[in-house]
Amino acid sequence: MKIHHIGYLVKKIEKAAAAFAGLGYVRAGEITHDEIRKVDILFLQKDGYQVELVSPYSPDSVVAGMIKTYKNSPYHICYEARDFEADLKKLEESGYIRIDNPTAAPAICGKKVVFLMHPAMGMIEVLEN
Ligand code: NI
Repeated sequence: MKIHHIGYLVKKIEKAAAAFAGLGYVRAGEITHDEIRKVDILFLQKDGYQVELVSPYSPDSVVAGMIKTYKNSPYHICYEARDFEADLKKLEESGYIRIDNPTAAPAICGKKVVFLMHPAMGMIEVLEN
């Protein structure tokens, strides 16, 4: 699997985007209002790296709890699957546990993503190819 992006939790997405711009990141598209996860999402690019800014807009957002713990911080690496179902099966056989079901990501062309947890590594995201 190839790295697709680094997910970065932020409290205020516009202020964060401006701070990242100061380091040379450029916006890739507009802010997506993800009503499934109740987060605003903005992709940024620099030097071939892609960073996903994720900001909860509601107290019942999927990351509302996490932002209290981590504040502004990177919190996952997303991997693009070669074969979504086969790669998930392999990950689960090697100790990763699914923490949600594959759900369409409106910020990534509606492709399916799923989050998994590894006891020694924490959370990863896997994106449908
Ligand atoms: Ni992500």
